[in-house]
Amino acid sequence: MEFKKNILCIGAGYVGGPTMAVIALKCPGYRIEVVDINEERIREWNSDDIPIYEPGLEEIVKQVRGKNLFFTTDIAKGIKQADIIFVSVNTPTKTFGEGAGMASDLQFWEETAHIIIENANNNKIIVEKSTLPVRTAEAMERILKASNRGIQFEVVSNPEFLAEGSAIPDLLEPDRVLIGAHRTPAGREAEKEIVDLYAHWVPRENIITTNLWSSELSKLVANAFLAQRISSINAVSSLCEKTDADISEIAYAVGSDSRIGRKFLNASVGFGGSCFKKDILNLVYISRSYGLTEVADYWQMVVSMNEHQKSRFVQRIVREMFNTVAGKKIALFGFAFKANTGDTRESPAIDITKKLLEERAIVSITDPKALNNARIDLKGIDRNVLYEPDPYKAAEEASAVAIMTEWEEFKILDYERIYQSMKKPAFIFDGRNLLNHKQLYEIGFNVYPIGKTPLTHFE
Ligand code: NAD
Ligand code: UGA
Repeated sequence: MEFKKNILCIGAGYVGGPTMAVIALKCPGYRIEVVDINEERIREWNSDDIPIYEPGLEEIVKQVRGKNLFFTTDIAKGIKQADIIFVSVNTPTKTFGEGAGMASDLQFWEETAHIIIENANNNKIIVEKSTLPVRTAEAMERILKASNRGIQFEVVSNPEFLAEGSAIPDLLEPDRVLIGAHRTPAGREAEKEIVDLYAHWVPRENIITTNLWSSELSKLVANAFLAQRISSINAVSSLCEKTDADISEIAYAVGSDSRIGRKFLNASVGFGGSCFKKDILNLVYISRSYGLTEVADYWQMVVSMNEHQKSRFVQRIVREMFNTVAGKKIALFGFAFKANTGDTRESPAIDITKKLLEERAIVSITDPKALNNARIDLKGIDRNVLYEPDPYKAAEEASAVAIMTEWEEFKILDYERIYQSMKKPAFIFDGRNLLNHKQLYEIGFNVYPIGKTPLTHFE
């Protein structure tokens, strides 16, 4: 079959894989190739056991793979064939040198720019899909233009807003698609090309076009605003625990103001995920580098509050369990950073486990999808950790259960049975306010929700 255009995506990760699968599904006239330096990952994308758990993804991949979606490691060939190149490589926080712990590490990003110029032999549109500091396109353009071989590269920003666990619905029906391009004729032409691609399934009014820098910065700001809501509600949860106010009632009352809205106001053990922390720290770093100290400090507090929420959770466990958890088994229900994903990057459960181990607890972890990642995260420090697929076994002989992830599975467990198998007094610390606390109390548990009065049987 003759394809209208060839698209290449460099980076077959949580963003590249699902995004390209959906583009392939919706744009049968485009041939899409996804490449990665990680051979194992590409092998998995080509197998029956795709490397990412995301509801609805496997069905789409099976439908389009081998038709107009291909996964390979031949980056050079992919670049030669492509009209449009999406770059979706990882942009983690820098761990070394200037800006360590704050700035984005752009080495993988820059590497792709060099591979593109080495292999390109005709004009191309380069799409920034990765989340990048504002004005990165400028650096990309400088590298690409340095080749001096008469090839035109037009850089366009198209940040991704999907959330893990709901990537497929987010991609199929996005609130908006954002496309940033230079306000030049060539920029406008490239912008139209990408608009036309998404217009195959996204209503035109949901496709926003801006200048390049607004697009790059909007992505960091969107994540900062989302994380800020969680830190705000978590800060209030702490006050609720001192005053007998109830965080769920407050979230409902406050969220009923249509200017505020109800979403993203669930108090929790803290936000996790690969992006919130790294993107805010990047925003902090950029602000500081422009001399904007107050702006940097403001956003820094969103991350600091999140760290505080995690520490506070463990301090409460220790305090309520008679000031010691040494030698006690604590069952963590959930290790993924949120439900419906096996991803554990920056999961609050990692820090909670480490802190509990420092207190010499025995930590027994159960999670429907994330046990393998938990093993990797805790490698070398897991002498007192048990990994248990069956939640009933995880809780056997435990003194406490702590809910880390809001998996639906945990709601429908037989807590009477769990209570019977645990040491007494039995505690539940619900880090997601997931369970029916009154029912648990009636079974016999001492229940500690987030931001609510505990329900205990103690005098
Ligand atoms: P990821 O680590 O899952 O995937 C990135 C992939 O890029 C890896 O498989 C890696 O091997 C590959 N790669 C790195 N350098 C390469 C090179 N030179 N050539 C070919 N492949 C290379 O990362 P991700 O979660 O998909 O995130 C990618 C970007 O998207 C990041 O900037 C992230 O901030 C952003 N983002 C992520 C999410 C999310 O939910 N994970 C959502 C929106 C935006
Ligand atoms: C987030 C954004 O929602 C996406 O729009 C963005 O594209 C993505 O980051 C990214 O840039 O990587 P993600 O991290 O996958 O997506 O998941 P979220 O649903 O945002 O949850 C993040 C964390 O916040 C999770 O740990 C979640 O449990 C926590 N959370 C979320 C709360 O504690 N309370 C809430 O009310 C909502």
